[in-house]
Amino acid sequence: MASDLLIYNIGTLVTSKEIDISNKNSMENIEILTDAYVAIKNGTILFLGKGPYDKTLVDSKTVLIDADKALVTPGLIDSHTHLVHGGSRENEMFLKAKGATYMDILNAGGGILSTVKATKKATKEELVEKAKDSLKKMLTFGVTTIESKSGYGLDLETEIKQLEVNKILDKEQPIDIVSTFMGAHAIPQEYRGHEEEFIKKIIKMLPIIKERNLAEFCDIFCEHGIFSIEQSKEILKEAKKLGFKLKIHADEIESIGGAELAGELETTSSEHLMAISEKGILALKNSKVIANILPGTSFYLKKEYAPVRKMIEQGVQIALSTDYNPGSCPSENLQLIMQIAALYLNMSPIEVIKAVTINGAKSINRESEVGSIEIGKKADLVIFNSKSLEYILYHFGINHTKMVIKNGKIVYEI
Ligand code: NIG
Ligand code: FE
Repeated sequence: MASDLLIYNIGTLVTSKEIDISNKNSMENIEILTDAYVAIKNGTILFLGKGPYDKTLVDSKTVLIDADKALVTPGLIDSHTHLVHGGSRENEMFLKAKGATYMDILNAGGGILSTVKATKKATKEELVEKAKDSLKKMLTFGVTTIESKSGYGLDLETEIKQLEVNKILDKEQPIDIVSTFMGAHAIPQEYRGHEEEFIKKIIKMLPIIKERNLAEFCDIFCEHGIFSIEQSKEILKEAKKLGFKLKIHADEIESIGGAELAGELETTSSEHLMAISEKGILALKNSKVIANILPGTSFYLKKEYAPVRKMIEQGVQIALSTDYNPGSCPSENLQLIMQIAALYLNMSPIEVIKAVTINGAKSINRESEVGSIEIGKKADLVIFNSKSLEYILYHFGINHTKMVIKNGKIVYEI
């Protein structure tokens, strides 16, 4: 059968298909082909192979792309972002330079709470425009699927507004957006001292969000001074009952047992984990929770990095994401995050690419559709301006993308 588009002369094709390997590092068990081609039909992968392509895959209408020995990977997946928000917080960067901490700023009504104010004030149209601009940037870095959380409303109306922006943008532009409700992102100042009332308010929002089909996941900021283990459990259990899949911002600043809770509730993923305990690592491993690591946040907040090597040694599966948000990681550049992971987390090139492809997909429950180049999956691919995976991690701070293909269509080219 002839294809609509065929990419040939690929030097290195990382398919990210998981394969059996004798090596026991289960973060390196992905297929990598040399001298390969990929054929695409109706937006999905029709066929792929090594060497010269079979002539029956081509007819007069097939668009042929010569990859010129370049590196080709699945479309990258940014499985943790706070895409939709109003305003920016450059002022905090300089407060921190003078010694203020992330938590000091939040406790003084700044931080997340200042973005809440800006997000409440913004119209839906303004939020759409701002987020669309970020999505355009993400696409240039090779990102074809993202997760996007609410959590800068903390009231029903604004949370719904944020999630509706996700829906609008999912239809309007090429990147697929998976929505997460994160009403439990911070305690509004008016609820300080009677936090239980705020928990009740969040619990009342859950069925409304579900009924309107506005989010697939529910997430919470489980942290000392934000939501305790008990409060997180209460909200997440309720969400699970209603059919939400779960995520949890856990052990980001202090180790309070967030990863253990992720294991107990069998969340799809557990986020941050800079301060994860040994017990927490075991809990993730035993419950097959994906550890979603956000090294851009460690870099930007000048915090410790998550103990990723230890987690990999124990058999935990790692995803890497930007955490794009206006406070702790104001950057849409997933390639920079991959470079930081290679440098500061000591992850190998294969581990890094697995973490932003098939494991990113697992982290948002999309592994049957995206995250690897396999027959029948969405034809989401990146052609890089480089011949090797090592090189794109080494030459940092620049964009290595040459072409992005989403659902079989060329959506970015330089
Ligand atoms: O993932 N940890 C909580 N939430 C975000 C930061 C949000 C903000 O500072 O606006 C995070 O780092
Ligand atoms: Fe986050």
